[in-house]
Amino acid sequence: MSTKYQSVKGVKDILPGEVEKWQYMEKTARELFELYGFSEVRIPIFEKTSVFMRSIGETTDIVEKEMYTFNDRSGDSLTLRPEGTASVVRSYVEHGLYNSPSIVKLYYMGPMFRSERPQAGRYRQFYQIGAEVFGTENPEIDAEVIGMLMRYFEKLGIKGLELEVNSLGCDVCRPKFREALLEFLKEKKNLLCEDCQRRFERNPMRIFDCKSTNCHEVTNGAPTIEGYRCENCKRHFDTTLFYLDRLKISYIKNPKLVRGLDYYTKTAFEIISKDMGAQNAIAGGGRYDKLVEDFGGSPTPAFGFAIGVDRTASLIGDKSHSSLTPAVFMAALGDRANQKAFELVDSLRQKGIRVEKDYENGSLKSQLRKANKFGVRYTVILGDNEIDRGKVVVRDMSVSQQEETDISKIIEFIIEKVK
Ligand code: HAM
Repeated sequence: MSTKYQSVKGVKDILPGEVEKWQYMEKTARELFELYGFSEVRIPIFEKTSVFMRSIGETTDIVEKEMYTFNDRSGDSLTLRPEGTASVVRSYVEHGLYNSPSIVKLYYMGPMFRSERPQAGRYRQFYQIGAEVFGTENPEIDAEVIGMLMRYFEKLGIKGLELEVNSLGCDVCRPKFREALLEFLKEKKNLLCEDCQRRFERNPMRIFDCKSTNCHEVTNGAPTIEGYRCENCKRHFDTTLFYLDRLKISYIKNPKLVRGLDYYTKTAFEIISKDMGAQNAIAGGGRYDKLVEDFGGSPTPAFGFAIGVDRTASLIGDKSHSSLTPAVFMAALGDRANQKAFELVDSLRQKGIRVEKDYENGSLKSQLRKANKFGVRYTVILGDNEIDRGKVVVRDMSVSQQEETDISKIIEFIIEKVK
């Protein structure tokens, strides 16, 4: 008995009809990001597990429960990348890119893997387009890169987006905030969910990100990072907002915004769609000034983001992608005519004309039916008879009219028609 296979839960095919949107998103990203001076980097799909463990944070959901980790045949622990930033930093340090005289701007695109509970907008293999800038602490970059991202969504014609920003502080101010938060939560600890009770010990800021309404209520009135930022972080945040204003980009300050990854310092942000359900963050990112150093590179401040491509695709209307309808159908009747049609298809394609033919030796009627299904404007009809006379028939499908032309001139004839 044959087995009927299905793709793995949370993993999907992107079929023609849908894939054009993805190509459009990728093309738009390449064009726009390159305009801002970014170059593409292609990072591996898997890395040593340690690349992700420390950088993303050992107490984050991603590392604790979502990574696809396996031992390869030599016993090394490897992990399918759950995100791109850690790999880009690993690559940046491995290739000594911090020796570059200027700031380094890199972008990447491709699949990421997280073993989350699948639901609408949340997959186990999903796609990101990300960008990272290395080598400057200047808050102008925070605003410029967020600006690029907003322009990207504008270009895709996506509306109803909200930019939420926060500054998560740094090594100087965050410990004081952490203490204050623990002090506030101390009495209420046993009201928290099991996950948050663990977070309380190891990573209390993440309690703000808990989906449980109970935990939400517990954090009502809790201190936020806002009251604890050091002078340096305050100035950085204010200047970032100043430059966002210059770009006329509106934002909402959300002092409870924490990200699902631990490497952030100072600026953190998310872009939320008002037109989506629970999984409404379509992009997120921020500054991570310590990560390059943690990976063994010279201290290098950095800033970046990643776009969730699957979620973004769901917000793009069909009209934005190009149609793949062929312009011409080649109908042949008889063996010699078929051979000639076979050659003509190749010649037309070399001229950049999208053309299809029949492969089933069907009757003229069935071939015309196929031509209609393809939605072509012109069908070229070749019969052995016509070939003997050096002629072909060209049928304009939109008006059901035919004309005859010399076979030797058919390429120029079609080019003239479809251009
Ligand atoms: P992230 O917020 O974990 O950040 O992911 C970025 C985006 O990827 C999310 O806003 C969401 O749209 C999409 N995404 C995440 N998980 C899933 C999923 N399971 N299914 C579908 N879409 C998903 C990062 O990954 C950071 N590396 C961003 C960054 C770059 N920070 C600095 N540089």
